[in-house]
Amino acid sequence: MQIQTIVGKIQEQETQALVLNLFEGVTEPAGATGAVDAALGGAIRALIAAGDFRGKRNEVAVLYPVGKFPARRVLLVGLGKAEKFSVEAVRQVAATVARKARDLGVTQLHTVVHGTGIGDIEAEVAAQAVVEGTILGLYRYQELKTQLDDVRLDPETLVLVELDPAKIDAIKAGARAGQIIAEATCLARNLVNRPANIATPSRIAETAQVMADVVGLQCRIMEKPEMESLGMGALLSVNLGGGEPAKMVILEHNAGREDLPTVVLVGKGITFDSGGISIKPAQDMWKMKDDMAGAAAVIGAIGAVAQLDLPLHVVALAPLTENMPDAWASKPGDVVKSLKGLTVEIHSTDAEGRMVLIDTLTYAAQFKPEAIMDIATLTGAQAVALGSPAAAVMGDEGLIVRLRAAGNATYDRVWPLPLFEEYGEQLKTDVADVRHVGSRMGGSITAGFFLSKFVPDGVPWVHIDMAAQGIADEDRPYIPRGGTGYGVRLLVETLRRWND
Ligand code: BES
Ligand code: MN
Ligand code: ZN
Repeated sequence: MQIQTIVGKIQEQETQALVLNLFEGVTEPAGATGAVDAALGGAIRALIAAGDFRGKRNEVAVLYPVGKFPARRVLLVGLGKAEKFSVEAVRQVAATVARKARDLGVTQLHTVVHGTGIGDIEAEVAAQAVVEGTILGLYRYQELKTQLDDVRLDPETLVLVELDPAKIDAIKAGARAGQIIAEATCLARNLVNRPANIATPSRIAETAQVMADVVGLQCRIMEKPEMESLGMGALLSVNLGGGEPAKMVILEHNAGREDLPTVVLVGKGITFDSGGISIKPAQDMWKMKDDMAGAAAVIGAIGAVAQLDLPLHVVALAPLTENMPDAWASKPGDVVKSLKGLTVEIHSTDAEGRMVLIDTLTYAAQFKPEAIMDIATLTGAQAVALGSPAAAVMGDEGLIVRLRAAGNATYDRVWPLPLFEEYGEQLKTDVADVRHVGSRMGGSITAGFFLSKFVPDGVPWVHIDMAAQGIADEDRPYIPRGGTGYGVRLLVETLRRWND
């Protein structure tokens, strides 16, 4: 989508549709909406007086100026109650109105920057939210359809119209960031939505390579023989069940810049999780194509980091493999040697995510990071504990503070779980150094605790369990059902604020 920013009066724009807004309960519109209402001879006030438009958040009305000014239509969107107004509301209304525009066949939109008027949101933040909401709201996964049931084209251009020339630079900067971050999120959504026969380890690695070339990231794909010679026995144990050979995507922004702080991102990349020999029930097993959503999040995030040219050395590591049953697959009770040297007893082959993560966490030491953040669709227990509104986060308290702040700003939210020593008791075993699974109690925490044993000594680390966030079951204003791209906005925002 093409995004432009111009200085001008909204009612003077020649366009297929103008987008204006109204807070709930307002009967005398002011600002841009007031100016358009005046030009329409009071049509908006009439709409409100008739009770046909109340300004509820995401309510949309369509008006036709019929020659009173050059625009063909006016899309009026409700912002909801002024007290409850937020950046999240801006993302939502931008998405809602963009989808309405598409339904109408509108391909060109001129919009006010919601929130910059009486909403009192900084112009840059508001512009980012408008663009993000628009792009994320319009997202559709159609690449495998040969028969498109919805023939409406996506809007091609979004023009942000601002009256005050002093705000233009801020709006342009916000719009640019919003586009970069939203498109990175859509890349992650595509990777999640792609079925496991298409998004195989090698194909995901190819996608990462192509993206890296486009945005100027260094990209290396670690192949299975290298994993073998390094001794990544935990990661490789998941790959024994077959499918393509395991791969690890290694992306680097500002590679070699030793003057910059280094942050390593690790994303779980199980391209399909059948459970292996500890096979999952058939019902909903298809959803396990999303078990690489952590990998998608770190690949998308570092792509945005490169385009935003953040002053950090960022590394993204995505270990990729399927988890399948086979004669050669790992079995419950097997013991393997991890890269760190600790032996691990495999209790359930369905706890494969932590196996690929531990060797990757150990490998991260290589980059001498000042922080490591991993993100993974790791445990069903996370979904039970928190449902879809928030992912679980555990580990270093300082990093948790950063992630919570970025999560609250982006609505890719997280909520903390403890890693008290006692949780480690469950990981004892008679036959190896450590068992990789505890009891059913506190399942997300024991998984996190297990990971913590493999984090390089002295490096602050945080683990995000996003099991419930990978796929949305229902449409939300800017998150259509399917792959959500969760984590991209969270990680990028955390990194944008890193040196604050
Ligand atoms: N990928 C799953 C976790 C998951 C479950 C993600 C539901 C999304 C939705 C993970 O590999 C898994 O199977 N975890 C097991 C661990 C158990 C065997 C200790 C689980 O949570 O049941
Ligand atoms: Mn599993
Ligand atoms: Zn899994």
